[in-house]
Amino acid sequence: MGDLLACLRGWHPALAKAELSALLPEADLSPTPSARWWRVGGVEKLEGLEALDVASGLQCYLVDGVVTSVEETDQTAWLETVRTYLNHHPVSGSVAVRGWRQGGKIPEWSLSALCGRLGAVLHGRGCTIDLEHPDHVLALIADGPAASLACGWMVGDGQAAFSNGERRAGERPFFKPVSLDPMLARLAVNLATGPVSRGPVVDPMTGTGGFIIEAALSGRPALGIDIHSEMVQGAQANVDWACEGAPDHARVVRGDAMRLEDIVPEEWNGQVAGFVLDPPYGRNSHGSLDNDALLAACLRSARAVAAPLAGFVLILPVHPMDPHPVDEVNLEEALPLLRGEWEAMKTLIAEAGWHLQSGHVERVHRSLSRLILHARCAPQG
Ligand SMILES: C[S@@+](CC[C@H](N)C(=O)[O-])C[C@H]1O[C@@H](n2cnc3c(N)ncnc32)[C@H](O)[C@@H]1O
Repeated sequence: MGDLLACLRGWHPALAKAELSALLPEADLSPTPSARWWRVGGVEKLEGLEALDVASGLQCYLVDGVVTSVEETDQTAWLETVRTYLNHHPVSGSVAVRGWRQGGKIPEWSLSALCGRLGAVLHGRGCTIDLEHPDHVLALIADGPAASLACGWMVGDGQAAFSNGERRAGERPFFKPVSLDPMLARLAVNLATGPVSRGPVVDPMTGTGGFIIEAALSGRPALGIDIHSEMVQGAQANVDWACEGAPDHARVVRGDAMRLEDIVPEEWNGQVAGFVLDPPYGRNSHGSLDNDALLAACLRSARAVAAPLAGFVLILPVHPMDPHPVDEVNLEEALPLLRGEWEAMKTLIAEAGWHLQSGHVERVHRSLSRLILHARCAPQG
């Protein structure tokens, strides 16, 4: 399908980029002036579309999208570039222009005026304009902070459900303050697991079931485990409610996250592609064990049933950082965990048989952030 320009949502571009790399492990991703747009090379059409279907942070692709820095051009020259693009990418059927902004306005480049001019260009080329149900949409995206425009024929419109708030955790029958936002839960599942075909997902401490709902809705077999029967019943009610039509993908069982070998179905042994972990913190919920010991035992147990390419995403509370890191964090520098020391956490993860890949920080509120860690299976022995 030619080279694609992947357009990421604005909420956390660095995390969305990490998700994209996980979903398209064979792709070459090259940067553009905007942290939200990445050129994707070396990807088969089907793979690209599958990633778009399941991604949380990928909004759409633009086919061979044209990226322009407004500091290096004027509007006449820009319009000429788009005309050349349209010559090289003719379409048949009806068309519409859709424009949106990310991160603020670009002074003196009015998006609505530019969209109007693009509409006139298309009309001048003899295209039928259909604003309701066009066969093709010419997208124009303005990234204010990067002072750049992206333009091109749009493929897909991302998961609209994530942007319009339709899938809030608070809508589910069983809600607790610990429930994760579906957009983050989906991203974590994708980052941990990679392409859907890799295999099943396990959430060893499932709480209200947010991760396994997203795993099931993205077409992966999923198992949620919790030590408390109230959570097991609640998470199952949420799964039944959210996964109408695909309930077979997800199951919730009562069990101990430290004994995954005894809990996951036999045929999943050595096949689990992704683990998503949002462990308890604060008051110890498991008798005599502290939370670090619980996490260490859970990661060792996960390693024992993991597929060779498996990954995990672990979410840990951290103190807010100043400045707030918008890019991947440096894992070599001390990170301000709410509980315990970062060096000890790194040792715990390595000793359980996992290689840390990346870390990103997301703000929760003024006095709390969360660290989203991604790790891969380390070769055994
Ligand atoms: C922070 S909550 C998970 C929240 C979840 N991500 C959500 O969206 O609702 C942690 C969960 O771990 C469970 N838990 C604690 N110890 C456990 C253990 N040893 N085995 C399995 N689950 C455990 C708790 O019952 C709790 O529901």
